[in-house]
Amino acid sequence: MNYFATCPVGLELACQGELIKHGVEKNILSRGGVSFECDDLTISKVFLDLKIASRILYKIHEFEVRSFEDVYKHAHDFPWHRLFTEKNTVKIKTLVSHESLKENPDWKNSFLFNQKFKDGYVDRFREEKGQRPYVDKQFADVVLHLYIDKNRAIVYFDLCGHPLSHRGYRDEGFSAPLRENLAAGIVNLMGIDFKQEHFIEGMCGSGTVVIEALYKALQIPATFLHWRNLELNRNIWNFQRIPAFKERFALKLDKESVVERIKSSKLNIWAMDIDKKALALTRENLERCGLENLVTINRQDITEFKPKTSNNVLFVNPPYAKRLGEEEELVETYYELGENLKKNFTGSRAYILAGNLPLLKKISLRTSKKIILFNGPIECRLAEYKLF
Ligand SMILES: C[S@@+](CC[C@H](N)C(=O)[O-])C[C@H]1O[C@@H](n2cnc3c(N)ncnc32)[C@H](O)[C@@H]1O
Repeated sequence: MNYFATCPVGLELACQGELIKHGVEKNILSRGGVSFECDDLTISKVFLDLKIASRILYKIHEFEVRSFEDVYKHAHDFPWHRLFTEKNTVKIKTLVSHESLKENPDWKNSFLFNQKFKDGYVDRFREEKGQRPYVDKQFADVVLHLYIDKNRAIVYFDLCGHPLSHRGYRDEGFSAPLRENLAAGIVNLMGIDFKQEHFIEGMCGSGTVVIEALYKALQIPATFLHWRNLELNRNIWNFQRIPAFKERFALKLDKESVVERIKSSKLNIWAMDIDKKALALTRENLERCGLENLVTINRQDITEFKPKTSNNVLFVNPPYAKRLGEEEELVETYYELGENLKKNFTGSRAYILAGNLPLLKKISLRTSKKIILFNGPIECRLAEYKLF
C-alpha cells in the first residue's frame, strides 16, 4: 500500500468508506487510519475531498529495525537527495506501536529514534550535496513520519503539512470545538437523509457539526476554502514545495459547480445554542463558507425546545464537565435534555456526544447504539436514541 490516511480513532470505517467512494479499491483498515493504494489521478481527487482524514502520508521507505543504530544506518543509506533538496527544511516524527514497546521496552524513548533518523538524513545530504538541511520543528517542507511496528520501520512523507481537518472556516476563539474531521465523521455516522429529515444541532458552540453537515449535504470538497490559495499558486500543502510530488498531483478544481450547489440548495438545518457569543461565532464561521443563508440560527435552551416537525435528527454535544462546566451543574442539563427528548421528539433520532459517562446516564432513555470516539484525548460515546 503506497498511502496512509490518518483519521480519529473510531472513524476508520467511515474514512475507508470515503476512500472507496472515491474509487480506492485496495485498502486495509488499521487503528487510527487506512492504508491504501491508488493511481495519481485518484489520489488527487482524494486529496481535495477526504473529509474524515487528518493527513495523507506517502510511503517512501521500509526497513527492518532491531536497534537505534539500524535507524541511523537506513536513514543514511537512502537517497533522499533524489526526492528532496538540501534547501528543504525537515522534521521527523516517530511513532512506536504498542506491540513493539511490549517486545522492546527501551524503545519507549522514541526521541532517540528521531535523533538517529535525523542524523542519518542530514549526514547523507552533507555527503551528497556538501550541505545539510535545516530542521524546522514548526513548518518544515519535508515532514517524515517514522512508524515502527514490531521490527519493521516505515517512513512516510506527509503530503499535507497542515492537516486536512483544518478547513479554514474556523476562528480559534471558541473553547471546546470538535475537530472538523471528527464532526464530519459524526455526520457520516448519523446518516442524515437531507431530503427527508431536518437536522438540528442543539448545542452548536462554534457550529462545526452544522457546517460539516452542509459540506456533506452539498458535496463541498473538504479543501474548498483553500482553493483560492491554490489558484493564486500559493503553496499550502507540503507536497507542493517538492517538485517531484507537485508534478504528480494535478489538482483539478471545479469551483463553479460547488458555488452553484451552494446557491441553489434548500435545506432544513438549524443551529441552536443558549449562548449568544457561540451563535455569533457560528454565524461568522458559516459566513466564511458562504453558507449563512442555509441555516436557521436560534438562541434556544435545547432542554426546552419543542420542534414543529417529527422527522428530525438532533445532535447535541453538551459540555463535558472536564472542560467547560462543573459536573453538578450539568447533571440537571443532561437529565432535562433526556426528559425533553421523551416528551417532544417523538418520531426523531437523537445523538449525544458525551465525554462524561456518568452524566450521559442521566438521560434515562434506551440507546440503540453507542460508538466510542476520541475528542482529542477525551474518550467519548456517541449515543444514538431512536425516539419512535
Ligand atoms: C461542548 S460545546 C459544543 C461545541 C461544538 N460541538 C463545537 O464544535 O463548537 C457545548 C455548547 O453547549 C451550549 N449549551 C450549554 N447548555 C445548553 C442548553 N441548555 N441549551 C443549548 N445550548 C447549551 C454551550 O453554550 C456551548 O456552546
